[in-house]
Amino acid sequence: EKEHQEKTKVKNIQTVELGRHEMDTWYYSPYPEPHASCQKLYICEYTLKYFRKKKTLLRHLAKCQLRHPPGDEIYRSPPPPANDPAYVGGAVTSPPISMFEVDGKKSKVYCQNLCLLSKLFLDHKTLYYDVDPFLFYVLCEKDAQGYHIVGYFSKEKNSAEGNNLACILTLPPYQRKGYGRFLIAFSYELSKKEGRVGSPERPLSDLGAVSYRSYWTREILEVLREHKASLSIKDISERTAIRTDDVVKTLESLSLIKYWKGDHIISVTQKIVEEHLKTIANQRNIEIDLNRLHWTPYR
Ligand code: ACO
Repeated sequence: EKEHQEKTKVKNIQTVELGRHEMDTWYYSPYPEPHASCQKLYICEYTLKYFRKKKTLLRHLAKCQLRHPPGDEIYRSPPPPANDPAYVGGAVTSPPISMFEVDGKKSKVYCQNLCLLSKLFLDHKTLYYDVDPFLFYVLCEKDAQGYHIVGYFSKEKNSAEGNNLACILTLPPYQRKGYGRFLIAFSYELSKKEGRVGSPERPLSDLGAVSYRSYWTREILEVLREHKASLSIKDISERTAIRTDDVVKTLESLSLIKYWKGDHIISVTQKIVEEHLKTIANQRNIEIDLNRLHWTPYR
């Protein structure tokens, strides 16, 4: 009932200005009045505080000391290799990125503001104010001014369902550059460090579903390539931290699974694996350098 009410609510806020970006919104978000009745909101890109007038934002920015999300920097991308042709002439193709872990309990207002902002681009998630049970992993691009938010995912501190991700967003100006994939990969790296498998909270949006399908496909094909010996579903799940039902679904979509007397049997040759991998060879892929991930599971 609550969900239905939310879906039928009229979208008021048409655009938001965030840092150097102006973005058209996609869905209704429950910003409190009087902000909810604004056509345009001005948002501080560091605190995510929202304002009805540019003037008020500018006054805030003049005093605002924050230049990164209010949490621990748990990952920083490696410096570019000096002799990489992609960097010749200073033409850096991928900017330096960092990931910050923000605790919903310690930085409540920031996390509530993040949820309100992300709801503008999500049509079904209903978490806004009860952020205490979540950690937020905020991805930023870094430049001389500061750390600019690109996207994030949230994760329950203790998930009864074994979810390793509650909600994921790449802000529209940064979409289709591989950041969604990076965030998904990051959520599975955290699961590996916890020594358990994980899966995203359902339902997935259409864009969430394509992004996950793409991630699972590539990860699974790569383990199949690496371990030429026959692997079971469970082996693949243990190596990737992808839950077994997601592994099965992905293998089914690739027609790489057979059933024999009620059991799943992976039916694949190296040639088929290579052929599939070739079709996805030009995927954008921002690698995670695990030596640069400094994180211990939440206790
Ligand atoms: N149309 C078709 N395919 C798309 C699109 C699109 N608009 N956007 C992404 N994809 C595909 C890409 O082709 C890519 O696959 P490929 O590597 O095989 O080509 C894959 O999805 C991932 O692309 P990325 O560039 O890594 O993802 P992006 O940074 O754009 O982020 C995300 C994906 C997070 C889903 C983004 O679209 C988004 O924030 N959407 C709005 C919020 C949302 O729907 N979140 C998921 C809700 S479900 C949940 O939270 C558990």
